[in-house]
Amino acid sequence: MSSRNREAWERSPRLPPTHYVDTAAYSDPAIFADEMDRIMARCWRFACHESELPEPFDFRTVDHAEVPLVLVRGGDGRIRTFYNVCPHRGAKLFNDLSGNAERKTCFFHHWTFDWEGNCVARPRPGPYEDANLTAEDCGLREVPTESLYGLVFFNLDDDPVPFADYFGDALSCYERTLTEEPVEVFHYHRATIRANWKQWIESNMDHYHEWMHVMLRRTNVLTEETFFRRRIELYPHGHIEFRGMEVDYGDEGTILPRERTRLLPGLAAETFHSTPIFPNTVLMTRGTVMRIDTTTPLTPDTSLVEFRGLGLKGDSEEDRMVRVRHHNEFWGPMSHNLPEDLFAAEQCAPGYRTGAASWGIICREENLSAQDDGGMRHFYAEWSRRMGRLASAPTAA
Ligand code: FES
Ligand SMILES: [Fe+2]
Repeated sequence: MSSRNREAWERSPRLPPTHYVDTAAYSDPAIFADEMDRIMARCWRFACHESELPEPFDFRTVDHAEVPLVLVRGGDGRIRTFYNVCPHRGAKLFNDLSGNAERKTCFFHHWTFDWEGNCVARPRPGPYEDANLTAEDCGLREVPTESLYGLVFFNLDDDPVPFADYFGDALSCYERTLTEEPVEVFHYHRATIRANWKQWIESNMDHYHEWMHVMLRRTNVLTEETFFRRRIELYPHGHIEFRGMEVDYGDEGTILPRERTRLLPGLAAETFHSTPIFPNTVLMTRGTVMRIDTTTPLTPDTSLVEFRGLGLKGDSEEDRMVRVRHHNEFWGPMSHNLPEDLFAAEQCAPGYRTGAASWGIICREENLSAQDDGGMRHFYAEWSRRMGRLASAPTAA
């Protein structure tokens, strides 16, 4: 063990280029702009669960790749995604996070749009007609939108990778869980964090950090045999599945046993399972609840993370109270788990932002089990492919 001078500190690690990341990938504004263009604007992006738009004309707004968007359930039951931008002079149409509107009138000059994106009214339209600017020329911009097991995704690319090809079998393990009985989102909160978006995604792929969590150290979870046997499955397009790890919190009195309410279909009571979907969404389950978090890059060093909790729709009041507690004790804003992960991402950010830290090391190999860094290497292989630059040398000419 020894300290290093500047030259040694900045020298590339003696590792394969797939096994480390240059921290410029987290901070360089040109790389960030490229990510918006080559990754965010071309990948299928999770928007919401169908239960968040239950009625005709329900809408929900979301920003992605710096583009304001709105999802609307139409009178025909279909969910469509539009640019949340007025085609007249660019005003934002919907300002609320969610609501219900059969038609939307722009506040600025009162053009009005229906749920199919048609422009159905323009005050005093005569001069537009004289100028040959027809109502057909004034509709909203729509982007491809698809659903899988009730999970709604959109793509800013008009000619995207086919939806089914993009996911392949990566989400198949959740088919029963999400379709056998109706489920709904019962929890939603957001956090703006001072860290690059990839640092949050990494917190769900880096299982070597589990020692950080007080609750995991205090219980016998990290010494269980299943902890070392769990598998990491890699799928095309950068998706990863961390196969179930059984968790036993022993006699830790503050953790409510999962048997206390109905399990989600296909899940075991005390098994943790997670699936990072490239580029910015992670699904995870633990017996009675599913968590989905989605990260929106705002600037190179600021990110918005949305957290959803899903459970059975037909819960009794009593069951729901238990389910909410199951969710909140690990994944709520004041839980055992989430604040520690948010703290860790923000603690790493200054070193990455300033270049004080030159490299992120992702070289652990354990046959894709236990705390292998293979999930992160898989993510960065896809990142490098789409970006046309290596994550380990992203600024190389
Ligand atoms: S900007 Fe919307 S009507 Fe003019
Ligand atoms: Fe964590």
